[in-house]
Amino acid sequence: EKGGCDHFMLKEIYEQPEAIRDTYRGRLRVDDGIIKMAGMEDNLEKFLQADRILIAACGTSWHAGLVAEYIFEDLARIPVEVEYASEFRYRNPVITERDVLIVISQSGETADTLAAIKLAREKGAFVFGVCNVVGSSIAREAHAGAYTHAGPEIGVASTKAFTTQITVLTLMALKLASAKGAISRTELQQHLAEMEAIPGKVEASLTSDSHIKYIASLYKEAPNCLYLGRGYNFPVALEGALKLKEISYIHAEGYPAAEMKHGPIALIDEQMPVVIIATKNGHYDKVVSNIQEIKSRKGKIIAVVMEGDTTVKELADHVIEVPETTEALSPLITTIPLQLLSYHIAVMRGCNVDQPRNLAKSVTVE
Ligand code: F6R
Repeated sequence: EKGGCDHFMLKEIYEQPEAIRDTYRGRLRVDDGIIKMAGMEDNLEKFLQADRILIAACGTSWHAGLVAEYIFEDLARIPVEVEYASEFRYRNPVITERDVLIVISQSGETADTLAAIKLAREKGAFVFGVCNVVGSSIAREAHAGAYTHAGPEIGVASTKAFTTQITVLTLMALKLASAKGAISRTELQQHLAEMEAIPGKVEASLTSDSHIKYIASLYKEAPNCLYLGRGYNFPVALEGALKLKEISYIHAEGYPAAEMKHGPIALIDEQMPVVIIATKNGHYDKVVSNIQEIKSRKGKIIAVVMEGDTTVKELADHVIEVPETTEALSPLITTIPLQLLSYHIAVMRGCNVDQPRNLAKSVTVE
């Protein structure tokens, strides 16, 4: 049942090329520049007329929402606000009939996310659900939605749900961007062609597994770990840190790399591993100078770089190479090594990776 893997988590990490393909299958027509998503087509006016898009979710799904914020604003030029569902519902937010709320949930049963839907519906907003579990409560309570089609996710730590959520949200942003005329047909076709190349690039990223396992063996005893990224890869840093905390019980924090100088840099010494995502097109020079700052304070640098990188390679203690892609789609690739790193560290520490202590797959309590 674990497909030859020791744990569901590892199986699900390895399923991502196929899961992402299943997510866009039937939705992409690259040559015609068409994205088929019935839940959006039936409600396109609501999206086009929205003053803004609100996104509410929890945990890993909230991180997918943060990635979506970058892509919706960047490509579709619609203001987006991302909220923890648990805060949103309790803070008397301003919501009107001109708002669209997107809720994201793997299980479709998260109580706080369900409550956010209820609140938004009461205020007259249009609610769109991005869920994995078909027929789940959130899928039913939303006005419309799109499934991620990742297949069952058994490991408590979310992996393929995250990358397929980003896939759906990216398709939504592209559809909207093209309907609004914010991107040309040619640009849309380029994005879609790159989307079709993602499963192969995820596959290629998975081949770093044994190198990542080696890195894990060096840092498995670390009491703390920092994760840094910028732009589209800032949410990936948050997600990398969450994965490490929840399954290995190592304290980890994710930060936008540029925030380091406003506090976290005080933590850096020779004991501190820093995982940093340094993709070529994402403020690369700035990230390189962040790496130099860490190095001069003797922090240990584990860098995720794009193939062919030479600058970071010279500075970092370890590099993990991933195939090059566009900045907007890079979270789908850069996430993979971070999942593997947490997995191997947790296994080496003897942790129960599929069922970490104190956690449940669906959080149905408020
Ligand atoms: C992280 C994790 C949790 C969930 C969160 C939301 O690996 O599993 O943080 O992402 O509880 O769950 P869903 O997406 O089911 O609403």
